[in-house]
Amino acid sequence: SVRVLTGITTTGIPHLGNYAGAIRPAVAASREAGVDAFYFLADYHALIKCDDPARIAESRLSIAATWLAAGLDAERATFYRQSDIPETTELNWLLTCVAGKGLLNRAHAYKAAVTANLDAELDADAGVTMGLYSYPVLMAADILLFNAHRVPVGRDQIQHVEMARDIAQRFNHVFGRDYFTLPEAVVDDHVATLPGLDGRKMSKSYDNTIPLYCTPKQLKAAISRIVTDSKLPGEAKDADTSHLFQIYRGFASAEASAEFRASLLDGMGWGDAKQALFALLDAELAPGREHYQALLQRPDDLEDILLAGASKARAIAQPFLAELRDAVGLQSFR
Ligand code: TYM
Repeated sequence: SVRVLTGITTTGIPHLGNYAGAIRPAVAASREAGVDAFYFLADYHALIKCDDPARIAESRLSIAATWLAAGLDAERATFYRQSDIPETTELNWLLTCVAGKGLLNRAHAYKAAVTANLDAELDADAGVTMGLYSYPVLMAADILLFNAHRVPVGRDQIQHVEMARDIAQRFNHVFGRDYFTLPEAVVDDHVATLPGLDGRKMSKSYDNTIPLYCTPKQLKAAISRIVTDSKLPGEAKDADTSHLFQIYRGFASAEASAEFRASLLDGMGWGDAKQALFALLDAELAPGREHYQALLQRPDDLEDILLAGASKARAIAQPFLAELRDAVGLQSFR
């Protein structure tokens, strides 16, 4: 069987970008025959970006409810919290000892922090924690602990999956056996990066997101804030430069997208275009929205589901980690 694995960092409330880039393809993959799915809340990763415990707690609950509301079958998939799998942090150390510092110097997130510091005439590493610097190693541990073949992610995570491959190859080479499967990022091309309200990548850090399971009223309000050009109704509009169209296309069938594109060229007004986008999104999200609200009222049930997932995951992780400890020389004396 094929192992598919992905995670979401628990620092916020899921938005349309997380859904289109990761949750929706992952839920679809979990239903395929012959697929063994591992989906988790990346709450150790959250500590890198956020030192507000209340925010992390709220986000874990919200992201757990989102996966289930989006249709994940937790009986069939293995659904868990990263921090319930301590083998992850142990593997993180084994991998840290083979991961090249030069490799991590090239990570986008770290490089962006350095560039921003230098632009502000600060020390290159000002405010950079070892957590941020080693972030890709922890992510490699998530992936390699379960020997995932496929990792469905948005485009921004491709480099991290490639680093996981590099680190796996290095470990296999150093210890002389194919302990780890080499993972591959799977990116859904037509939504590889869903733009946000302002046209930049939809992201918590840019405050340009459309929340996933908000009320219809909030959804409408968010859509009304999508930035468009100043063309009036009746004027032809270019779909390819419109991020409203990019968002539409991320959720519509090929035929519906082609029709929408033609209507824009034909002079559809932006007001009508926003109406159409609202109708499309509302139809897709309404069923999950109710389920999401109901789940948030039942944190005890969510806890039970996640603990059951953690014990399934650890049943795989524990013996594998014992094998890896042997590989590096940490075997028992007995
Ligand atoms: P995170 O929490 O930033 O994002 C979760 C997933 O959502 C995707 N995504 C998007 N996709 C399309 N358009 C967007 N605007 C957009 N914004 C976010 C991300 O690409 C990601 O797939 N490091 C990861 C979490 C992680 C992980 C892992 C993922 C930890 N360990 C192991 C896979 C495998 C992260 O911070 O994603």
